[in-house]
Amino acid sequence: MRIGIIGAGAMARALGGGWAAAGHEVRFGARRREAAVELADAIGHGARGGSIEEAAEFADAVLLAVPVDALDAVLRSTVLDGRVLIDCTNAFQPDTSAPDGTLNFVLAEDAVAERVAATVATAHVVKAFNLCAAEVWAAEAREFDGSRLSVPLCGDDPDAVQLVAGLAEDLKLRPFPAGGLHRARYLEATSAMTVGLWFAGHDSRAMFPPLAAASAARD
Ligand SMILES: NC(=O)c1ccc[n+]([C@@H]2O[C@H](COP(=O)([O-])OP(=O)(O)OC[C@H]3O[C@@H](n4cnc5c(N)ncnc54)[C@H](OP(=O)(O)O)[C@@H]3O)[C@@H](O)[C@H]2O)c1
Repeated sequence: MRIGIIGAGAMARALGGGWAAAGHEVRFGARRREAAVELADAIGHGARGGSIEEAAEFADAVLLAVPVDALDAVLRSTVLDGRVLIDCTNAFQPDTSAPDGTLNFVLAEDAVAERVAATVATAHVVKAFNLCAAEVWAAEAREFDGSRLSVPLCGDDPDAVQLVAGLAEDLKLRPFPAGGLHRARYLEATSAMTVGLWFAGHDSRAMFPPLAAASAARD
């Protein structure tokens, strides 16, 4: 598949690098063209770098790997009609009410993926990959305590969700559907909470029992 990656930072490297290694045609696009070319050269596997416009034009699916406050300008200046848009962004900002020395996060806005979809109405937005650090996506490890690392996906277009599920599987991750795009805001909020707890030294994973013990059966 032809995958465009907008951004040349940590998430671009982690996910774009994984997809290139899995055999996809990956093109990085960045506001500093040389940064995209440098990243593509470092990754190899036929990956190429260029402008944001070139990456978007080339691709069937486009990963948005830029800060949230850059999204509006990027989306409004790039032709993305009909593309599957993978939104991994988090609108984190430091929680200034946290005690001194504690790094907690709140969200600068509540529903980034919905805003992306409203800005590019003809694209098919799927929220994915926002829950874990770039280093996690880039790492080899995929099994933890006997469970495959999973990627919840929120999107309204079943074909787009299916496509992104395949891309998650290509990274040896387990995708699962998490509802329509209106639920992406819960993934965004989940990230703010869990990442803040991790930064505070708590094991967010330990908050949850395994499925068999979750008492999740309908009465
Ligand atoms: N890093 C993580 O662990 C992680 C995990 C989950 C989700 N995310 C989300 O993924 C997104 C990307 O994060 P990242 O860690 O990859 O960031 P990053 O390493 O800082 O890279 C950001 C990329 O966006 C580009 N950029 C910044 N401002 C821009 C603008 N106004 N217009 C165009 N391009 C711009 C940067 O270009 P320059 O080099 O020119 O500044 C850089 O290529 C963020 O929304 C973040 O919340 C990150």
